[in-house]
Amino acid sequence: MKKGLVAFLASLMVLTVPMGFSGSSLGSGQTVYAEAPGESGSAFDKRITQRFDTDRVMDHIYYLTEEIGPRVAGTEEEKETAAYIQDQLEEYGYDVSTQEFDIANRLSGTLISGEDEFAIRISPGSASTGEEGVLGEIVYSGLGLEGDFPAEVDGNIALIQRGEIPFWDKVNRAQEAGAAGVIIFDNAEALVPPTPSLGANQADVPVVGITKADGERLLEENMTAVITISEVTDQVSQNVIAVKEPKGKKSNDAEIVYATAHYDSVPYSPGASDNASGTGVVLELARIMAPYPTEKEIRFVFVGAEEIGLVGSRYYVSQLSEGEIARSAANFNLDMVGTNWEPATSLYVNVVDGAPNQVWQSASGAAERLGNDSLILFERGASDHVAFYEAGIDAANFIRREPGTAALEPWYHTPFDTIDKISESRLQEGGQLIGAAIYDFARKEHPGKGKSENRRATVSGAYLLNEDQTAPEAR
Ligand code: BES
Ligand code: ZN
Repeated sequence: MKKGLVAFLASLMVLTVPMGFSGSSLGSGQTVYAEAPGESGSAFDKRITQRFDTDRVMDHIYYLTEEIGPRVAGTEEEKETAAYIQDQLEEYGYDVSTQEFDIANRLSGTLISGEDEFAIRISPGSASTGEEGVLGEIVYSGLGLEGDFPAEVDGNIALIQRGEIPFWDKVNRAQEAGAAGVIIFDNAEALVPPTPSLGANQADVPVVGITKADGERLLEENMTAVITISEVTDQVSQNVIAVKEPKGKKSNDAEIVYATAHYDSVPYSPGASDNASGTGVVLELARIMAPYPTEKEIRFVFVGAEEIGLVGSRYYVSQLSEGEIARSAANFNLDMVGTNWEPATSLYVNVVDGAPNQVWQSASGAAERLGNDSLILFERGASDHVAFYEAGIDAANFIRREPGTAALEPWYHTPFDTIDKISESRLQEGGQLIGAAIYDFARKEHPGKGKSENRRATVSGAYLLNEDQTAPEAR
């Protein structure tokens, strides 16, 4: 029989079965698509590529970025996002669980001068002020070198320029000069203020960073300001999990594949690329994979609190039993898959140790079948795949970057990471490729003849880079 005819017949083999028959956790009367014997790899890919609906992904991104906005770990907005994800997954027929965990206290605050509130970043070692805040005149104190502090700093707010010496030296001298608060303004134009890191030191006064432009404005206007900083305590975040049971076997016998995306963002950023894009694509993959039986169990895990140090994914992995870890085959992590920044033409497959593991193998196989040559294997952590890697699970993060330099879009982690910076065609290209790779991997009991160690020699196509071979990241 000709391949095309097989694919055509396969597409007709749609059965409606009562709940339980497919072995999935889907609701009763769910449509299940049976496999036709001899169906080719690319026909399986088509189940994903033809059903992948980029409009739905854009709807998710719109909801997360425009309806909700920044989704900082521990906030109401992060919880609202988790509830939205849960609703969507339930609509697709999944049983969904939400896993809550504690997160560290954080500092929250404002800088107000005149009528204006300025964008700030608070030093991790800053003091809190209480609700009343610290009020003072703004006193320019140069670079914070010895002799830069006029007598008026005493009891007022020192405004210091970034540069030449560490932040802590500036802050320490300001405290010695009697400053009641410290504002450090940037020495170069940037989209967001610097976060003055004090190392392990703890300041006795509030310390914030602002942009160069705002620093110059405060200098010119010679104003007073109020800095208010308080500690936010008892914060929780949550992971949202939908499980697609393997077909025809007890779920605790099957290997597990994890498709993950973090849905939280950094403060002030709507996080369209980082990471409403990955969240939207994984939701869409959960939707389109729901009716198809797979030998492996697939867990769609939507991760909270990634931006404060991979807290959600580390918690998720820490709660897996030894048996679950042993059954865990691979983690496909999607983080920043849809930027429209023109130079980011490659889909990087970031692997913590740079080794071409089963995730890479599966993605490059799908790329070959789909005629996609945009993949680059790269040695990098900095996202949720790290937590899975640390548990010995083959893991990779998919992320759009500029080939050669590995640069990210310049508005990464800024208020300008908005939905108009998303490329529908790149979302589609990445979503189809990663979806085809996950489905191919999950469909089969054993994708190859053993663990990734034995498979490294077979890698072809793309090439491995690491940070040493690239220009510094645009961040
Ligand atoms: N979406 C980024 C992913 C990323 C990966 C950015 C590699 C840059 C390089 C992720 O959300 C992120 O911002 N990661 C943090 C580190 C993390 C441990 C908080 C980063 O890279 O600063
Ligand atoms: Zn990020």
